[in-house]
Order: sequence, then structure tokens, then C-alpha cells
Amino acid sequence: MPSTFTSFNDVRPEVASFESYEPGLSIAEIAERYGLDRVVKLASNENPLGVSPKVREVLRAHAVDAFRYPQAGNPRLVRALAAYYGVDGKRIFVGNGSDEVIDLLFRVRAVPGVHNAVAFRPCFGLYPTQAKMAGVEFRQAPLNEDLTFDFRRLRDCIDEDTTLVLITSPDNPSGRAAPLEELEALADSLPPACLLVVDEAYVEFAGEGSSLLPRLDRHPNVALMRTFSKVYGLAGLRIGYAILPPAIADYMWRVRLPFSLNILAEEAALAALQDGEFREETIALVRRGRETISSALREMGCEVIPSSSNFMMFRPPAGGPGAAELHAALLRRGVIIRALRSYGLPGWLRVNAGTDEENALFLRFTREILEGKA
Ligand SMILES: Cc1ncc(COP(=O)(O)O)c(C=O)c1O
Repeated sequence: MPSTFTSFNDVRPEVASFESYEPGLSIAEIAERYGLDRVVKLASNENPLGVSPKVREVLRAHAVDAFRYPQAGNPRLVRALAAYYGVDGKRIFVGNGSDEVIDLLFRVRAVPGVHNAVAFRPCFGLYPTQAKMAGVEFRQAPLNEDLTFDFRRLRDCIDEDTTLVLITSPDNPSGRAAPLEELEALADSLPPACLLVVDEAYVEFAGEGSSLLPRLDRHPNVALMRTFSKVYGLAGLRIGYAILPPAIADYMWRVRLPFSLNILAEEAALAALQDGEFREETIALVRRGRETISSALREMGCEVIPSSSNFMMFRPPAGGPGAAELHAALLRRGVIIRALRSYGLPGWLRVNAGTDEENALFLRFTREILEGKA
């Protein structure tokens, strides 16, 4: 007898209230919409140098392995990361982008309806969505108006049922780095069951002394999360990792889908880790771009938040085109930057450092639009 089941709208309550993920604008979409030959994307904090030549070579050489499953647990990459950072391999967890690491942290650390997780507002969009998907209460303490961190307000959100605190440093979208002493004081003040996760997706651009890594041994309740999407130029391959307390890493491995990090991604990550030259070149280019863009935008009268990252948050001066207008006018000229409406910051925009040529193009168009020569 055929099934009479028709109620396909019945889903978990957490799922029923989900909005579709709003992806960033793609180069192809904008090229087609405005009939443009060239589109520059400075919206997703990707690497301006693209994929390192050494990694491209490795990807080509390993294309023939794509029919095989990766080795479950990615032991080679785990060993390489442990050696690179000088930490015990039992602390390393790797996943399909930091996105997967974030998702699993909620599901592993927090009991739905019992525990809560805490972060600042605004924060990286995946934190609230994955908390929701896990059925975990997500509390947010507002950042200060200038987007510096208000740790007192953050602490006010934390109680005995808080099992996860997530802080991004340098932060997205502001680019501000959290003072290490504040992070350490926070770690020391947390309830016993609480893990502090510092998302260091952009830390390589912040320079020496910006990471908690050298102080990790003093703080058994702190985890660091990083990614190959930014300084290593591998956003499309999806490789994220974390240095965790060993017991948590062990549970994360037990529940991770066994092959979530694919075989080519793993080879690329191993090669990228060895490619110090590309990493240094990326950092130098980003720092130069950051300076050029920040000072030029300030000259145009924009307010620019000081950034330790590979992107800058800014708002146009009053009395001229606003953020939405500037964003739309840049799109028409083939430059995609990030509107920050979804972060609750409609008056602000975020642009990442590109190549020297891309930066010059962005600045030329921005100047023209702000001066009314649109
Ligand atoms: C703060 C922050 N964390 C994590 C990620 C995600 O990184 P991945 O590409 O490794 O998933 C991003 C990506 O933009 C980010 O901005």
C-alpha cells in the first residue's frame, strides 16, 4: 500500500525557523548582471595571491588519488600541525573548514536545553546558526560602540551552565584584536565546565604577540581555532583546525564524519604548511594593502576601524552617499565588497586587502562615487 504520509513540513522546531543561508555575491553573478568583463571581489577575506604555486603542483600531482578515501582521522595532517605548533598531537582536531569545527563544538560541548554558549554581538554568523541547529541557547554581549571588547558585559552573560565562550581575535567584522591579558583573565574567571574558544582565523595578519598559543599551557580551559582559508589561500578546499584540550579533541574525532576532510584538501594543507615563503608574501601584501586602503579611505573622510586583520571596516562620511549606496555603486563598476546589514551594522562596509592593482581600483571608484562623479 502506498504511504499516506504527507506531512513533509514537520521538522525540528530549531530547523523550522531557519532562514536560508544568504551567500555572498559571486563574481560570475555580478559580471552577468552588469555586463562586465572584469569583476574584483574584496568581500570574503580571501587570499589576494590565490593558491600558492607549490600547492597547485601538489594538487595536480594528487588528482589521481581522488578515487581513494582519505585516511580517517587525517593522521599526517595532525602530525604536521602538531610539529608546526609544537603541541601534542592529541590536542589537534581538523575539519571541513572552521565551520565544521564550530558546528561540532556546540554539539559536543553543550546539552540542548541545559547549557548555553556566549559570544559578543556582532560576531561571525556561523556561531548563532550552529548554536541554534544544536538547540543550544546562544547569549551575546554587545561590543562597545567602537567595537572594542567589553569583557565585563561578556562575563555578565556567563553562568554555571555556560560550556562554551567564543571570541574571535582579530574580530570579524571589526578587525580588532582582543588584548591577550583580557583573554587570560577571562579564562581564569570561567566556571569549571566552560571552554574558552579563541577563533584565530585571521591571527597571522596581526603579527607577533597576538595569539594565545605561547600561553596555552597556562590555560587548560582554552582552545584555539584556525583555518587554511585565509593566509594559506585555500578557502575553496575547506580546511579548519583547532588546538583543544585532549579530551575534547578525542570526542570531536569520535563524532566527526570520518572523511569530512577530503584527500586533496589534506595534501594541499600539508604542502601549504611547508610553504613559508607564500605565507610571508601574503602577510606582507596584506599589511601593505591594509595601510594603503586605510589611509586613503581616511583621506576621503571615511571612518576606518583600526584593523589587525586582512580586512577593514569603514563607513562613508556623512552628507554623501551612504554605505548601501556606495556598495551598490561599486557593484555596478565590478567591485564587490561586504555590506554589514546582516551583522546589524547597516551604516558600515567591510573590504579586504587585495592585490595592489585591486586596491587601487577599489579606491579610485570609491573616491569617484564619494565625490559625486558617479
Ligand atoms: C571569524 C571566522 N571564523 C571562521 C571562519 C570560517 O573559516 P573556514 O573557511 O575555515 O570555515 C571565518 C570565515 O570567514 C571567519 O571569519
